[in-house]
Amino acid sequence: MSAAPAVTINPRVSEFVKSPKLLLIGGKWMPAKSGRTFETINPATEEVLANVAEADAADVDEAVKAARRAFEEGKWSAMRPADRARFLFKIAELIEANAAELAQLETLDNGKAINESKNIDIPMAAETFRYYAGWVTKIYGETNPSSPDMFSYTLREPVGVCGQIIPWNFPLLMASWKLAPALACGNVSILKPAEQTPLTALRLGELMLEAGLPEGVVNILPGFGPGAGSAIAAHPGIDKVAFTGSTEVGREIMKAASGNLKRVSLELGGKSPNIIFPDADMKSAAFGALMGVFLNQGQVCCAGTRVFVQQEKYDQFTDQLSQLAQNMKIGDPLDTSTRVGPLVSKEQFDRVTSYLDIGRKEGAKVKTGGEAGGQGKGYFVKPTVFADVNNSMRIAREEIFGPVAATIAFKDENDAVFQGNDTTYGLAAAVWTRDISRAHAVARKLKAGTVWVNCYGMLDPISPFGGYKQSGFGRELGKYAIELYTEIKSVFVKL
Ligand code: NAI
Ligand code: MG
Repeated sequence: MSAAPAVTINPRVSEFVKSPKLLLIGGKWMPAKSGRTFETINPATEEVLANVAEADAADVDEAVKAARRAFEEGKWSAMRPADRARFLFKIAELIEANAAELAQLETLDNGKAINESKNIDIPMAAETFRYYAGWVTKIYGETNPSSPDMFSYTLREPVGVCGQIIPWNFPLLMASWKLAPALACGNVSILKPAEQTPLTALRLGELMLEAGLPEGVVNILPGFGPGAGSAIAAHPGIDKVAFTGSTEVGREIMKAASGNLKRVSLELGGKSPNIIFPDADMKSAAFGALMGVFLNQGQVCCAGTRVFVQQEKYDQFTDQLSQLAQNMKIGDPLDTSTRVGPLVSKEQFDRVTSYLDIGRKEGAKVKTGGEAGGQGKGYFVKPTVFADVNNSMRIAREEIFGPVAATIAFKDENDAVFQGNDTTYGLAAAVWTRDISRAHAVARKLKAGTVWVNCYGMLDPISPFGGYKQSGFGRELGKYAIELYTEIKSVFVKL
């Protein structure tokens, strides 16, 4: 947390950070039409990392033209699938070849611990491209059992120009979840990274050009929500919008998209229940609960922020969890021994610390943490465990998006399921038990897009991810993302 960085920055990373940060439109880097730029901050030091071109509606318009041209020319959408696959494999390889630098860049811009960038964000981004590279040659239509005088079949075609708006919590990984399946299906994209973390998306843009992606296929427009974001959501020339972020903005996107009835997919917030039965392996459950809520400083949409523990084990478990939380080392996120970096921004710091006060006022007990964790600069918050929480408190109902666990006692299985489902969200859930029947029964009853049993937070490009209820709709990853990025056409041929 000191001003002098303990870890040396890779010179290629410094060089990239210093280079001009422009918009990628039609295969060329250019300033915003308005000439405006915005600052991206290192949240560990509060220093300005770079000034980045700020796209607004006029640039979105330009990008839509470029993307539309690329799409209609068919250089990408009508490319032989085996050739298109090569580009996605190449992008995966380039991410891997530049992994160490991308990890540092992500940590500088976002503040997440370097071990997480290095072991989670960057490898999973590469894996996502590689997984969808495999799909390119396996996207089929069907022959339909039509009447004998007809030959009827379906074609699965790209949707067209996709607007993809992503958040700051997993910047490169979210870019990959959006771009890889869209590109695999033959779409073209206008990607808007979050204003807090534009750097790895811009570097990915460079890597895509290095891979030789035809111009206009991927356009990258850093900017703000009300400027570039809302212009993408509303633009009549965009066929589909995919969004990850807050439920509040998700609602805005749906409204804006209604103008031209864009296809919409939304991956929004969560308040996921992590349910621990007394017969579970308590040591693994405590570690799972810890990672479930404190990974990436809790800035995870599927974080297990409501930790439910059966009454008889409640005190013991919350003690154990608090002890583990207290031992997490806070500090310079570039240092490999650090487990807790800063929150992404001043805005998130203020939001999260305000919930620490709300929790206290509501009568919850701070077992550990409960305050800022910095010794000067940086948006650090100590891993916090609240005990004596009930499910109707605001800290149990509202997405805090910070390192804050609300531990809640339950009576029995029915009560755990009832309380677990008593939320407006439904992104994820987990259950810890050695009873195999209970594990599967509870997994069925929980209203969530992903349920983990005796683990937390596992993600894999093969498995769909998305929400029930106000956590959004549509499923990313797996074969389900192919549905999001294709249209089905029925063809009838009179014989
Ligand atoms: P946000 O939802 O405002 O931002 C996410 C993305 O949407 C960013 O790229 C932003 O520029 C863009 N955006 C914002 N307003 C827009 C608009 N009107 N039209 C189009 N795009 C728009 O999230 P924010 O403000 O960064 O964080 C606030 C809260 O949202 C967090 O505390 C957390 O609870 C939640 N959140 C959830 C995420 C998730 O993964 N589900 C990710 C980020 C935030
Ligand atoms: Mg916002």
